[in-house]
Amino acid sequence: MKGAVKYRFIANASPAEANGIITIYRAQGWWPQGSRAALNRLIKGSHCFLVAERDGVIIGMGRAISDGAGDAYLQDVAVLKGERGAGAGKAIVAALCRRLKHDGINWIALIAQDGSGPFYAKLGFRPLKNALPMLIKGARV
Ligand SMILES: CC(C)(COP(=O)(O)OP(=O)(O)OC[C@H]1O[C@@H](n2cnc3c(N)ncnc32)[C@H](O)[C@@H]1OP(=O)(O)O)[C@@H](O)C(=O)NCCC(=O)NCCS
Repeated sequence: MKGAVKYRFIANASPAEANGIITIYRAQGWWPQGSRAALNRLIKGSHCFLVAERDGVIIGMGRAISDGAGDAYLQDVAVLKGERGAGAGKAIVAALCRRLKHDGINWIALIAQDGSGPFYAKLGFRPLKNALPMLIKGARV
């Protein structure tokens, strides 16, 4: 029987955690060049980084980047394909938002990529009026 999913914030990644997290990044095609050293810089540079773990395997993740005072963006929220549809994504976003609000950060935004708008809408996010996400020319999408 599958164990319960556990959620925890990490301040750096053990070798096993790094493998699990990089596997998720690669599965999404988000960070093909990801390495353990770069991952630990990414985690340290984030306001918070959350992993979802079942039976010792990382099945999902999410993070927030923030100025630490007022504003934050959620980023890199993903759940492994075989684990989707069971509430992990919702729990990751809820935990990130709870943490940010606890830290006094109430302006929480994100870019809903890959058709994930309806998922975030269910969690209380709304399109930002008169706003257009933009990316510098030459950067990977
Ligand atoms: C988006 C994602 C994180 C959702 O994770 P998940 O664990 O499947 O989501 P949950 O099971 O917690 O779903 C929560 C609710 O959102 C709904 N939902 C999930 N994905 C959805 C989608 N793409 N469109 C519409 N609704 C969706 C679920 O049906 C559920 O609804 P309910 O509460 O009424 O039952 C996951 O599909 C994923 O990793 N996608 C690829 C990466 C991605 O697109 N990330 C977000 C963009 S940055």
